[in-house]
Amino acid sequence: MTSSTQRQNLRRQLRLQRKQLSSRQQHIHARKLANVLQRSRHFKQAKNVAFYLAEDGEISAEAAIQLAWKSRKTVYLPVLSPFADELFFAAYTSKTRLKLNRFGIAEPAVSIRHCKRAHQLQLILMPLVGFDSQGNRLGMGGGFYDRSLHFRRQQKNWRKPRLIGLAHECQKTVAIPVEDWDIPVDAIATEKTLYRF
Ligand SMILES: Nc1ncnc2c1ncn2[C@@H]1O[C@H](COP(=O)(O)OP(=O)(O)OP(=O)(O)O)[C@@H](O)[C@H]1O
Ligand SMILES: [Mg+2]
Repeated sequence: MTSSTQRQNLRRQLRLQRKQLSSRQQHIHARKLANVLQRSRHFKQAKNVAFYLAEDGEISAEAAIQLAWKSRKTVYLPVLSPFADELFFAAYTSKTRLKLNRFGIAEPAVSIRHCKRAHQLQLILMPLVGFDSQGNRLGMGGGFYDRSLHFRRQQKNWRKPRLIGLAHECQKTVAIPVEDWDIPVDAIATEKTLYRF
């Protein structure tokens, strides 16, 4: 089986698992995740943090967003560039107007000119489909985070931005077949714990 087929099969299987969680379980996981993040040093120290609005059974970051607002952090959400397959990041408050992008995903209705690039943020919390014990991350397959974080490949030990993947524990798998372009994360936070790599 090719690596690409393996990745597709893994995606299908892991997406099915997270979609089977009840809304009650989703709610509990979101609260527990916020607690796990609150105890993490990188979350405590970061003043500007990118989150995401959950889709497709992804673990919800909303409880964590509330915490971030309370701690006076600046919260950002990804905005898809209309010109390239790259993510920009727009400030997000309770007053921010949202619109649907070309994938039907809600994002702040702002011009790219008013957005930040990934390297300007201190911490990026990213969704994922699967992760393994090495910090490898399997996304939905668009390569958007990988492309936007490509600069991390040129140097090891980047201090900024820190990358933490957010996931349900059921998204953990033995080994993700990785490709050259995949950007690993520094840590994964689940409803149970924070895994550091
Ligand atoms: N730095 C890059 N430059 C150009 N293309 C890239 C880059 N990174 C990834 N891609 C392309 O994106 C496609 C999808 O990548 P991949 O399967 O790793 O997505 P993913 O990690 O699941 O998605 P995402 O990053 O959006 O969560 C690949 O076919 C790859 O060619
Ligand atoms: Mg990838």
